[in-house]
Order: sequence, then structure tokens, then C-alpha cells
Amino acid sequence: MKDLLEKIRREALAKMEDSENLDRLNEVRVAYLGKKGELTQVLKNMRNVSPEERPKVGQMVNETRAALEEKLEEIKQNIAARQRELQMKAEEIDVTLPAKRMKVGHRHPNTIAQAEVERIFVGMGYEVVEGPEIELDYYNFEALNIPANHPAKDEQDTFYITKDILLRTQTSPVQVRVMEQKKPPIRMIAPGRVFRADEVDATHSPSFHQIEGLVIDKNITFADLKGTLAEFARELFGPDTKVKFRPHHFPFTEPSAEMDVTCFKCGGKGCRMCKDEGWIEILGCGMVHPKVLAMSGIDPEEYSGFAFGVGLERIALLKYEIDDMRLLYENDIRFLKQF
Ligand code: DAH
Repeated sequence: MKDLLEKIRREALAKMEDSENLDRLNEVRVAYLGKKGELTQVLKNMRNVSPEERPKVGQMVNETRAALEEKLEEIKQNIAARQRELQMKAEEIDVTLPAKRMKVGHRHPNTIAQAEVERIFVGMGYEVVEGPEIELDYYNFEALNIPANHPAKDEQDTFYITKDILLRTQTSPVQVRVMEQKKPPIRMIAPGRVFRADEVDATHSPSFHQIEGLVIDKNITFADLKGTLAEFARELFGPDTKVKFRPHHFPFTEPSAEMDVTCFKCGGKGCRMCKDEGWIEILGCGMVHPKVLAMSGIDPEEYSGFAFGVGLERIALLKYEIDDMRLLYENDIRFLKQF
């Protein structure tokens, strides 16, 4: 009996040592300590042992069982530790590897220029408003004193949705929408996208942006226009910037002008930037035409005002010395990152 127990013990321990995983270990446990296991069989055969021997054999069986259980626990711990180690290895992070850099987005030059223009006018007490990109012919042309057969309509050919609905060619219709809705005093700017049937080249695009401005109140004169736009130019291009107004024609203003600024690159001496002119044209402006006021429900005898329109791309191109407008629409991150 003693020999048998010794044998069971030796074999069981060896098999436990050889177990590579918990499943295999469990099989060994069942084979020896389970209900039908070898050691359990020995206990069941106790009745064949003489009564005097029984306590001794019983003790031996218990010792063997205890030894096996102890070993079982030990091997179990080892396997678990080994598995944990393997798992840690698999999940190891090499903190010395170069990190993946988070790519943070960047504001487009148009967006930066628009924010700058808004900042300047908001600082002068202007409100920023928006109007629809799909506009009625009435607001885009008619109410701006551009009747059906006016030649100005030809210069601003656009995309028509119906005979009466089009993609706006300018932000000027927002003037009309605001005047219809609000009583003076009005001080607003209206940035937004506009559309024209233009071919793409270095200075043209079928879709670009403008910022419209409008001031209506009692006793507004051309002096207010001049002072405001000169201040705008100084804020945008630097305190030494001078402005010059050239007579021009817009159907919705009278008188009308285009404003030039002294070249901020050469200070007016003449350079590549200003094509040796010393001056750079930046916007159209004028005193709101009495007919436009009247059509929008504002009494031209009581109120007067001025308006202006600037090309946003033009400002962005000038400010960042970009020589081709197409670069603004290519969305090449290498280009956009520079501003
Ligand atoms: N809407 C004009 C254009 O697209 C620009 C303009 C000129 C706007 C004079 C104005 C203005 O408000 O007074 O060419």
C-alpha cells in the first residue's frame, strides 16, 4: 500500500510539473484527486486493509492528498504568473518610440482676414449680419437701382436658378434686406460668399467673398465715409497707410468712388506689389443712392448713408502677399499652414 501511494504521488507530481496550462493541470487533478481519481480509489479500497493498519494507511493517504493539493496550488500560481508575464510582454509600450503627432487644424487665410475686418468694424460699433447666398433678382439688382436692362447686370452675370432667383453676385443685397427690416440708425457689415460666371484665373473665381458695409443715420456725409474707411485702412494695413478716393460709378451709390491705399510694402514709392503705382485699389464705396433708400422704405429727405464693399480674397492676398487666388481654394495643407 505504501509503495502504491508512493507511486501515485511520484507520477502525479511529475504530471503536474509537466502541465503547461490550467486545462492540462485540471486534467491531472481529476485523474488523481477526482471522484474516480487514483487516490480516491485507494480510499475506497480501505475496506481491504486490516483494521489495525487502517489508521496508518488513512494518514498516509491524507498526507499524499495534502502534498498533491499543495503542489497543485503551486503549479497553478506559476502558470498564472507566466501567463500574466506573457500578456504584459504583448502589451508592452515602447515609450521611446517617436509619438504620433496630433494634427491641429488651421484657419484659412480668408477666415483670418474676415475675422480681422470684423474685429475692426465691431470695434467701431458695427453689427455683423448675414444674407442668403441664393437671392432674389429683386434684391441683387432691382432694389439696388440696377434695372433689367442695365449694363451693370452684364458685368455681373451669374447662375440663375429661375428667372427671378439667382446666386447673388455681390453682398450689396444684404443692405436692402437690412434697411427693409430695421429703422436707422444702421451700422452693419455683411460678409459672405458671392458668385459670378467668371473663368478661373489668378485673380478670378466663380465663387469668392465680399464684405459689405452700410451706415444709415441722420446727417451722414461723405466725410463720415472717408473718416471711417481711412481708419479701417490704417487698422488693416498699418498706421501710416494713406487713402485716396477716385470717382467711380455704382448704380446704388451717388456719388461713388473706389478707394486706394498706399502700398504697405513700399510705402508708396512703387514696387512689384503695387505694380509701381504706389497705390493699391481695395474697395468700392459711395453715398447710398436716394432711390435705393426710398425703395427700401427709408425717407431720403430725413436720412442719408454710405456703403462700401470689399473683396475678402483681395484683402487676404494682399495681406499675405499671395500672388494667385487659386492657391486659396486648393486646400493644400502645406500652403495653408503658412499663415
Ligand atoms: N457690390 C459692388 C461690387 O460687387 C461693390 C460695392 C461698391 C459695394 C460700392 C458697395 C458700394 O456697397 O457702395 O462690385
